Amino acid sequence: MTERTLVLIKPDGVARRFVGDILARVERKGLSISALEMRTADVDVAGKHYAEHAERSFYPGLLNFITSGPLVAAVVEGPRAIAAFRQIAGGTDPVEKAVPGTIRGDLALDGQQNLVHGSDSVESAEREIALWFPHLARG
Ligand code: TYD
Ligand code: MG
Repeated sequence: MTERTLVLIKPDGVARRFVGDILARVERKGLSISALEMRTADVDVAGKHYAEHAERSFYPGLLNFITSGPLVAAVVEGPRAIAAFRQIAGGTDPVEKAVPGTIRGDLALDGQQNLVHGSDSVESAEREIALWFPHLARG
């Protein structure tokens, strides 16, 4: 059963020139990129994207970071795409959680600037795809 997930290469990933590396890892895993766009997120989209964290102390800094420069938004598809992308991304904390071989484990140090986002459930994926790619919204 194919699934789709929303992937972001965050502004640190673009600034560090890891767009090609990260997209190559997605494809090497066997996942397909079905939509792809570089843009700078405005605070409205960023705030909605991270709405689940609105009460957390790191939220204002996170919105500041995610809107700080161009990012790459993508829809990634394949069997178990949601879990598969989170597997290759690695855990949220690039040092304490992400293991070597993952995007964060190999390439990141910082708990906020951790290069990528991947949806965490079917519901999140559909909500996030509708937010970033309204023309691809379902239902
Ligand atoms: P979260 O959804 O918990 O992680 P993930 O990106 O792995 O799904 O958090 C969203 C982002 O918020 C995370 O990628 C980095 C940032 N963040 C912080 O800056 N500080 C924190 O303490 C946490 C938990 C997250
Ligand atoms: Mg998350």
